[in-house]
Amino acid sequence: MFLVSGCREEFVQGRRLYEAKCAGCHMHDGTGLNGITPPLVGTERSYLDELPCIIQFGMFDTLQINGSTYTDFMLGFPELTSVEISNISNYIAFRLLNVKQPKYSPVSVQLRLDSCMKWRKPSPVDPKKDTIRMFQSI
Ligand code: HEC
Repeated sequence: MFLVSGCREEFVQGRRLYEAKCAGCHMHDGTGLNGITPPLVGTERSYLDELPCIIQFGMFDTLQINGSTYTDFMLGFPELTSVEISNISNYIAFRLLNVKQPKYSPVSVQLRLDSCMKWRKPSPVDPKKDTIRMFQSI
């Protein structure tokens, strides 16, 4: 099952996008950078329902994960389509979290994105300035 889905085109796109857009901060295996960027694996948090919204609109919270505090923010990826977001999300679910069944479809992702209005509030930071600060801190 895993190998079959692993060969499908959308899975390949999900992996490629994860490597290009996420792995630089969350690492290839999703383990994160302790105290800077949170791990996506081995945590008790379940972010899977929120994942499409986090990818599209970013995250501006303070997180407590496995004894570390994460105060930095993550900018969203407004350029990604619901198809691309569902492919990245399925890649994370299958490959990093070993979820057995396909979880996301472009339609379910679009519904989720339409409903997550609270994520659409304008970013509380100046993205240009603070992105530079953030990359310097890494
Ligand atoms: C520039 C670094 C950076 C990039 C690139 C990045 N993230 Fe993040 N991500 C963060 C930071 C920092 C946080 C913590 C945000 C906070 O504390 O509000 C975070 C939080 C998250 C969370 C929440 C984890 C939890 O336990 O609630 C998820 C899920 C996530 N990112 C997924 C992704 C995905 C998927 C991508 C690629 C599409 C991505 N991130 C790209 C830095 C990044």
